[in-house]
Amino acid sequence: MQLQEIFCKNLRNLVEQKVVLNAGMNVFHGVNGSGKTSFLEGIHLLTTGKSFRNHLTSQIVTHDADELCINGLLIDRDQDSHTSLAIIKGRKTNQLKINQKKETKLSTLARIAPMLVITQETQKLLQDGPQWRRRFIDWGLFHVEQQFSNTWLDFNKALKHRNRLLQNGISKEDKHFILWTENVANLGNQLTKFRQHYLIELAEFIQHISAELLDNVKIEIIFKKGWKKDSDLKTALIESYSKDLLAKTTHVGPQRADFICKFQSRKANGYVSRGQQKLIIYVLILAQVCHLKQKIDKDVILLIDELGAELDESNLKQLLVILEKYLSQTFITTANAKLIPMHVLTQCKMFHVEQGMINAA
Ligand SMILES: Nc1ncnc2c1ncn2[C@@H]1O[C@H](COP(=O)(O)OP(=O)(O)OP(=O)(O)O)[C@@H](O)[C@H]1O
Ligand SMILES: [Mg+2]
Repeated sequence: MQLQEIFCKNLRNLVEQKVVLNAGMNVFHGVNGSGKTSFLEGIHLLTTGKSFRNHLTSQIVTHDADELCINGLLIDRDQDSHTSLAIIKGRKTNQLKINQKKETKLSTLARIAPMLVITQETQKLLQDGPQWRRRFIDWGLFHVEQQFSNTWLDFNKALKHRNRLLQNGISKEDKHFILWTENVANLGNQLTKFRQHYLIELAEFIQHISAELLDNVKIEIIFKKGWKKDSDLKTALIESYSKDLLAKTTHVGPQRADFICKFQSRKANGYVSRGQQKLIIYVLILAQVCHLKQKIDKDVILLIDELGAELDESNLKQLLVILEKYLSQTFITTANAKLIPMHVLTQCKMFHVEQGMINAA
């Protein structure tokens, strides 16, 4: 799917804008505060139902307006079927429509047009807590593994039950507690198998992309399932009972999963430079794009806020070539268009953003 056009009203400083988009690369440039990131935020809101910047609707809706409205038209690769999306968000409204029909499930929306975002925040994938890395793996599984969403939901329900029993000071011999511990173990094992399998498959794509973007530097992903390496989850849960009871929460299981990213056999976090970190993130995200394409033949729409930050000229050139090669549609913002070596692209549409107005160059 590709976004053909988008209309937004009352989205931060974009009061009313209709933009006809390019099927390939779209570059938005303009001075600081002109509205570039707001436009990407609008695309994200329309295709996922959520902002990547702020969850407070009141901050996204233009000051003094009651609600924002974004409409978009998606077209499939063969150009023979259209999907219209519409979102209205305000203090009193929160409405989503797919092909003019009301939709309440964000997961239905997310499956229509898989979307990934790279912003300054994405560095958190390497630097911050494990929830960012779990989110990375689970984004891929949500799209490629049919059973994943249900398993994830069931596991979280079971975990909540076990934690509630721990909060009530349950004995380890209680038959309900034994049952919920078994449920957590079984569902947790399934979830972990999905994650392990996904990362094994992704490794091939990571190697392939890093050969192109990082001069063959070896990037390894080492999965940590969330409990002791050689133990099975049921045993780990039983062994963790006293600690769990004291803290009133479950300490082992896929809710604690993580991965370590190694760059030239060293832990990337704390070793690589900011620019190298950025390149590793591009490798990981592009690997997901290629994996999705190969597994379910779906295109990902990629949003990149502030392309150019931290990358040197040669890496930027190489990155653009690779983005064009692997992605069907990309949206890029930059405060300085001169930094972007457009000549390496075969097809690109430029937009100038000025005080909330977006004009094709
Ligand atoms: N709710 C709102 N209503 C009106 N204007 C807003 C609202 N929220 C933010 N703004 C303004 O919208 C403008 C555009 O912000 P945005 O982050 O999109 O700029 P940008 O072009 O990405 O700038 P930069 O290059 O600095 O990243 C800013 O001047 C900001 O103050
Ligand atoms: Mg910005």
